[in-house]
Amino acid sequence: MKKVILSLFVFIAIIALCSCTQQEQPAPQPPQAVNPDIPAVDKMILDPKEWKDKYPLVYESFMKTSMMGDATKESEDLGGQHPIDYLKENPNIAILYEGTGFGKEYYKARGHYYAIEDVVSTARPKPGASCLACKTSEYEKLIVEQGEAVFAKDFQETVQDVEFGITCYNCHRNTPGEKVQITSPQFSEGMKLLKNEPKVGTQACAQCHVEYYFDKKTKQVILPWKNGIGVDEIESYYDEMGFYDWEHPRTGTQLIKVQHPEFEMYSGSAHDTMLVSCVDCHMPKVVENNQEYRSHWAKSPLKTPEESCGKCHGSQAKNMVVEVEKIQKEIDEMEVDVSDKLVKLTKDLTAAIEAKKLDDKTLENLRSLHRKAQYRWDFVFVENSTGFHNETKAKDALNDAEKYAEEALDIVEKL
Ligand code: HEC
Ligand code: HEC
Ligand code: HEC
Ligand code: HEC
Repeated sequence: MKKVILSLFVFIAIIALCSCTQQEQPAPQPPQAVNPDIPAVDKMILDPKEWKDKYPLVYESFMKTSMMGDATKESEDLGGQHPIDYLKENPNIAILYEGTGFGKEYYKARGHYYAIEDVVSTARPKPGASCLACKTSEYEKLIVEQGEAVFAKDFQETVQDVEFGITCYNCHRNTPGEKVQITSPQFSEGMKLLKNEPKVGTQACAQCHVEYYFDKKTKQVILPWKNGIGVDEIESYYDEMGFYDWEHPRTGTQLIKVQHPEFEMYSGSAHDTMLVSCVDCHMPKVVENNQEYRSHWAKSPLKTPEESCGKCHGSQAKNMVVEVEKIQKEIDEMEVDVSDKLVKLTKDLTAAIEAKKLDDKTLENLRSLHRKAQYRWDFVFVENSTGFHNETKAKDALNDAEKYAEEALDIVEKL
């Protein structure tokens, strides 16, 4: 029963949404001049099969992302081969995300194997070919061939020529087994803004599992990290540039749509402070036929607690799953409470606007509170661990969201 409750609220947003802003860009340079590690286009090893003979166990584990888990043991609530429809499960989202693609279609993310298929099949609008930044190993090839003009090219037209999804090249270029290489241009830029360089096993994932937005003019993917990667700092960056993803059609509030900020949430957590990296839990080292290798089956660590947690927590690994579920349940409940308040605020604010009860200053203040509250709720809601990655940060954000929503509701009630 707990699992069922949990499944209703483990919400995931991996796929992109159009954002709108303008920023000055430096003059473009050919990628190979900036980074000599980038191979010539005809030398890029994009097909994972090319590594099958050299690293058979890694290759096989990598291909398991197509299963999203062991289909025989898989419990439905942890994902599966079939897309899960959040809108059907929770009517609040349709109201909160009204006016965005997520208000119309919102499926749970699946394994890496499906990245291309899922981005092609989503009905949500795509601002340009830069949506491919986190879907295919061929993105770097496209940039080398076409320069930065590729960002704004038509998505459907560009994706037709893309053969491979996320492959070894995304994290290793041509050097699997030797070293990790960062291929995501947005993360390479973003990393320059970080105070501490994350561990390699965290960098590999932070290439894509981060909050981002599209430059309005160039459609370039940019990470909003200039002021820092905390919840408040990212908001302050967006506020300073007058940025918003969309305007809520009923309240007119200019809202931010957060996207999967796993790396930002994780940063500063107990595990991060102890230098545990994303792959320690999500792609742990395993032993098969007396051979040790790193599992490349990026998945929920709760499917393999001994492998994912046991190395450090020993015989407590199973208990750790219970700990995770406790944290997630609490965060779920907080998320639902806050989303109920946000829905009430959306409705009451709409009614107050329609009844012409608001002077300009009060309306501006209420919209500002709405924006702050929904942004903080969304930050936790679309983060894929349901609070586990950093319980303190998640709770702080939800408490602040609630505070802002209540402040606004108080004002509306007194009108
Ligand atoms: C999402 C990122 C990512 C992808 C995709 C990826 N790897 Fe890795 N790989 C890593 C990371 C991170 C490590 C650990 C590096 C470290 O700890 O220094 C690693 C380690 C390895 C190792 C050394 C560990 C071992 O088990 O021997 C090999 C070999 C390897 N990868 C091969 C591959 C191959 C082959 C593919 C494609 C089938 C692939 N990788 C795809 C991120 C990735
Ligand atoms: C090149 C971009 C990229 C990189 C690098 C990447 N991911 Fe992903 N990841 C995605 C996308 C896109 C999806 C969603 C795929 C879908 O829904 O079709 C995803 C989905 C996942 C999922 C499944 C989500 C779910 O609901 O079950 C897990 C787990 C995951 N990634 C973990 C990792 C880990 C761990 C790393 C680092 C080793 C990593 N990813 C690196 C882009 C990336
Ligand atoms: C200490 C272990 C640990 C570390 C380190 C960790 N995670 Fe997780 N992660 C988890 C757990 C536990 C969950 C919850 C899984 C669930 O609910 O099934 C999770 C969930 C996720 C999910 C959703 C998976 C799904 O199937 O729903 C993604 C994606 C993800 N983490 C990415 C990352 C990234 C990126 C990093 C590094 C920035 C990271 N994780 C670091 C333990 C960890
Ligand atoms: C590489 C080592 C390592 C791995 C792998 C690891 N942990 Fe931890 N974990 C730690 C350390 C170190 C601490 C901090 C211990 C302390 O402060 O007493 C910790 C603390 C915790 C805590 C208490 C603090 C908190 O964040 O709430 C929980 C719960 C926890 N781990 C769960 C897990 C789970 C679940 C997994 C597997 C998905 C996992 N850990 C994997 C090393 C690890």
